[in-house]
Amino acid sequence: MEKYAIITIIITLFFFNRYAVANEAVSITKLYIVYMGEHSYPDSNWVISSNHELLAPVAGSFGQAKEAITYHYHKSFRGFLAKLTTDKAQKLRETESVISVFESKTNQLHTTHSWDFLGVDNVPQNNANVGSKSDVIVGVIDTGVLPESESFNDNGLGPVPKRFKGVCVAGDQFTVNNCNRKIIGARIYSKGYEAVHGPLESFNATFFRSPRDSDGHGTHTASTVSGSVVNNVSLFGMASGTARGGMPNARLAIYKRVAAFDDAISDGVDIISISIGSSPEGFFDDPISIGSFHAFKKGILVSTSAGNSGFATTKCAPWLLTVAASSIDREFNSNVQLGNSKILKVRDNAKFQGSSLNPLKMDKFHRVIFARDASAAGVTAGEASLCFNGTLDHKLIKWKIVVCSGFGIDNPDVVVREGGGVGMILIPLFGLNEYSSQYVIPTTALGTNELQALQNYVTRSKNPTAKISPTKTILKATRAPKMAFFSSIGPNTITPDIIKPDITAPDVRILAAWSPVNIELTAGRSVDYNIISGTSMACPHASGIAAMIKSHHPSWSPSAIKSAIMTTANAMDNAKRAILEDSSDSPASPFNYGSGHVNPIAALDPGLVYDFGSNDLIEFLCSTRAYATQIQMLTGTKITCKSPPVPMYDLNYPSIGVANMNGSVTVVRTLDSPAGVKVKATVKPKQLKFKEAGENMKFGVTFVADKTSHGSLVFGSLTWSSGNKYKVRIPIGLNLASAIQVRGK
Ligand SMILES: *[C@@H]1O[C@H](CO)[C@@H](O)[C@H](O)[C@H]1NC(C)=O
Ligand SMILES: *[C@@H]1O[C@H](CO)[C@@H](O)[C@H](O)[C@H]1NC(C)=O
Ligand SMILES: *[C@@H]1O[C@H](CO)[C@@H](O)[C@H](O)[C@H]1NC(C)=O
Ligand SMILES: *[C@@H]1O[C@H](CO)[C@@H](O)[C@H](O)[C@H]1NC(C)=O
Repeated sequence: MEKYAIITIIITLFFFNRYAVANEAVSITKLYIVYMGEHSYPDSNWVISSNHELLAPVAGSFGQAKEAITYHYHKSFRGFLAKLTTDKAQKLRETESVISVFESKTNQLHTTHSWDFLGVDNVPQNNANVGSKSDVIVGVIDTGVLPESESFNDNGLGPVPKRFKGVCVAGDQFTVNNCNRKIIGARIYSKGYEAVHGPLESFNATFFRSPRDSDGHGTHTASTVSGSVVNNVSLFGMASGTARGGMPNARLAIYKRVAAFDDAISDGVDIISISIGSSPEGFFDDPISIGSFHAFKKGILVSTSAGNSGFATTKCAPWLLTVAASSIDREFNSNVQLGNSKILKVRDNAKFQGSSLNPLKMDKFHRVIFARDASAAGVTAGEASLCFNGTLDHKLIKWKIVVCSGFGIDNPDVVVREGGGVGMILIPLFGLNEYSSQYVIPTTALGTNELQALQNYVTRSKNPTAKISPTKTILKATRAPKMAFFSSIGPNTITPDIIKPDITAPDVRILAAWSPVNIELTAGRSVDYNIISGTSMACPHASGIAAMIKSHHPSWSPSAIKSAIMTTANAMDNAKRAILEDSSDSPASPFNYGSGHVNPIAALDPGLVYDFGSNDLIEFLCSTRAYATQIQMLTGTKITCKSPPVPMYDLNYPSIGVANMNGSVTVVRTLDSPAGVKVKATVKPKQLKFKEAGENMKFGVTFVADKTSHGSLVFGSLTWSSGNKYKVRIPIGLNLASAIQVRGK
């Protein structure tokens, strides 16, 4: 029983599954996305009626087709969302004009000092002209937005850019007046979700049938991308300071849920930020990959979270900027003072140590009891140690600090409080702990060494007492960044020659605006700013940087922006040593952080860029064994794949990956001197001389492997530098089928 409970808990923890889980009861009718690629119809009505015509023979009649379709994609690409039986979905798959038919799954949310840590400081304290040259619009696809938040005030912002074609959709507690010069557009999409899970009303959770955010996640990400500068904010004094987004004067267009790509592209956003996950599937079967391909083609970079599974990332497409998650140098210390005047230091940033965000003060010392020594009648000590409901003897824990094992996510704090306990010390199982947990009574979590000290004290003392201190925020406290244990990793499971994730950015314990309606993660306390963790928080940092670059270089392509972010990233931490994994303190690799930790200031002026366009992506797709007809429909142009295709590793990507290297391989890259930048690059053993802006140059890198080698993974990097001014670095990852040593040539 215990084991079972633990397994369940781990799954919850790893996936940060914050939505009610879908009822997977056997039912043949499911919601499918039917995708048909680009279209050349004159208007939406044509698309909609041809969707009905396409489905009619399969559904039985025109009327049934109309009834089955819950949503049409008709702007940037053609498709629809329909309730279908598995048989009918299969029939549609066999229809000629259909590229793919796939189940619409519920996406998981990948759940501010961080901008200072990134070196974006000395910001003037208003919104106007902060680090920007021109207006940028960022589309945020998430859980909506809390429009009243101070972070979305529009002080100092000029009129809404004329090119923006989006709308402000009114609804439940959201009027058109909730949009302003900061939130310039807001839309909601609930049909798809409801078609799978039933009406929102059936969930017993607060929700708004409008762009208003009842979750907090969307408010948090949007304010991290481009929240206005707000002084003196904190979570009950923790992480206090000035809150701001990366690009405080960028405009926000809010899209509640993922059906939004089609609209976002045609509304005219410049960058799309999407901190939402999906399952790993082919590039033609995943709404995020399809939507973002069309965005890329229209010049929009899509920045997305790598995922919180700790396993292979699902964001494999080269047209996505895939962002991993790492810590910053801030610690939250929640210490325990023992009756013998010893202090157990609890530093919430260290290996195998606990954490908690505890705003509550304990005014005196209280007796400490281990939960295993306070089991209710008929309950074993082992069961009681987890502090599940009904396992503790209330008489024994009254007025005491109770020591519980577990993950702190089954509300053991509530159980202890209901039994009369006044504080909790948590022992995280397996050394893993959830970052930034909040509890209803003073709580802290102990690491292994501190636990030993506590145990010694409690066994030796007749009257063991302790006092839990409120959390203190300590800046510049620790080596950082470190890769978060939950951050999804490479290799790329779909196109292994492209290293994924691309980049890492701050995501651990980030303070940003919140929806006070969601009190589930804040121990029942309603707050306007909250501290949370997840690759969801890393993605908007990267999106904010992309917005800064776009503002400085409005003509840059999505791949140039991506290259700028990747080639200027650091693989070293603030101690000038290799970035570590937080869970093990061993050095991380490009499969954890891609090109490294983002460096926004350097990214504004990268020197040279690795550029690629949608034609290059077509060649790339040709090399993936995708059918030419599928590619053709995705891209809307006639395709003839070269035979043999250009190798996948020759896509002009700002990193080099070779997934199956046997003996030797030559990889080709082209460097661009982007308009407005004058560069003379020196390389060894050769030089590349750029004479004018807009020029590009090719170079080849040959890797030769030793004959005696067996399969192994080799990481390295290649840097082009021009004096001390520019360093254009790309990581290299080689998987040697029959080699160990690599040397450049
Ligand atoms: C919502 O609450 C009602 C009444 O308390 C209950 O019957 C129902 O099962 C709940 N639904 C969900 C999805 O939890
Ligand atoms: C910051 O906020 C706190 C609590 O809201 C308040 O007590 C304090 O005076 C404020 N400080 C400044 C500098 O405004
Ligand atoms: C524990 O169980 C009691 C009795 O069933 C219930 O009233 C209480 O809400 C439960 N507490 C928690 C934290 O689940
Ligand atoms: C590597 O190439 C050699 C010669 O071309 C071939 O015999 C061998 O099977 C290859 N090994 C792998 C692991 O592909």
